[in-house]
Amino acid sequence: MSPTLRFRTFVGLIFVAFFFTWMVLVVLPWSELGHLAPIQDESGGTNITPFDKPNEAHAGEQVYAANGCVYCHTQQVRAATSGADIVRGWGTANDEDGKPITRRSYPRDYIWNHQVFLGNSRSGADLTNVAQRYPDANGLYRYLYAPSLTDTHSSMPAYRFLFVTRKIHGQPSQDALVLSGADAPPVGYEIVPTSEAKALVAYLLSLKNDYHLPDEKGPVAPPAAKS
Ligand code: HEC
Repeated sequence: MSPTLRFRTFVGLIFVAFFFTWMVLVVLPWSELGHLAPIQDESGGTNITPFDKPNEAHAGEQVYAANGCVYCHTQQVRAATSGADIVRGWGTANDEDGKPITRRSYPRDYIWNHQVFLGNSRSGADLTNVAQRYPDANGLYRYLYAPSLTDTHSSMPAYRFLFVTRKIHGQPSQDALVLSGADAPPVGYEIVPTSEAKALVAYLLSLKNDYHLPDEKGPVAPPAAKS
């Protein structure tokens, strides 16, 4: 084989390798999932499932990405047959009637997300339904400011730089952290969330898959243990 022919074969093989990778990793998933849309309710009204997040929550999505929360927290509840996520309660959220919905995540759950936080690193809990477990902003502020105050064994880093200590003028802020002992600010001061922390918490409060999807399949409970 002449050197020119060898070079052309080499370039041709590189092209074939890239082409197949691109087809399998980009084109195939796109053709399977790219068209997913929200489900319209049967009455033809404006109720759709899932619904988009408020703008502040989308801003919080950026803060979540920028601070590397995804390195320890997935947002991907695995099927009962492929992990213990359902048993741990990560797939459960109450619907508007207070009835628990327990299920794995489906591609349609992510259609409004600007970034998708999948992964297999679960040093902390999966946060798909974190708003179910922490339904109020103050609890989440406290967790971010000092995780050990809520969970003494937590190895999560404290995100204190998302808060500021400031002098109280008039009434204390409603968002001020309720802290005691050595953690409390000096008298006359309060610790309040920055706009980044507010957006991040708005985002966390939007994390709740409390609706059913027609896509649901498979058991919600783990298979019974064989004796
Ligand atoms: C170095 C790993 C690590 C990083 C980075 C991290 N966390 Fe955590 N997080 C943990 C651990 C560990 C826990 C406590 C144990 C658990 O509940 O599994 C936890 C718990 C939590 C909880 C309570 C969850 C629950 O259901 O009890 C929230 C909310 C949370 N983290 C939010 C965040 C946010 C938001 C960020 C980014 C700003 C973040 N975490 C970054 C490790 C981490």
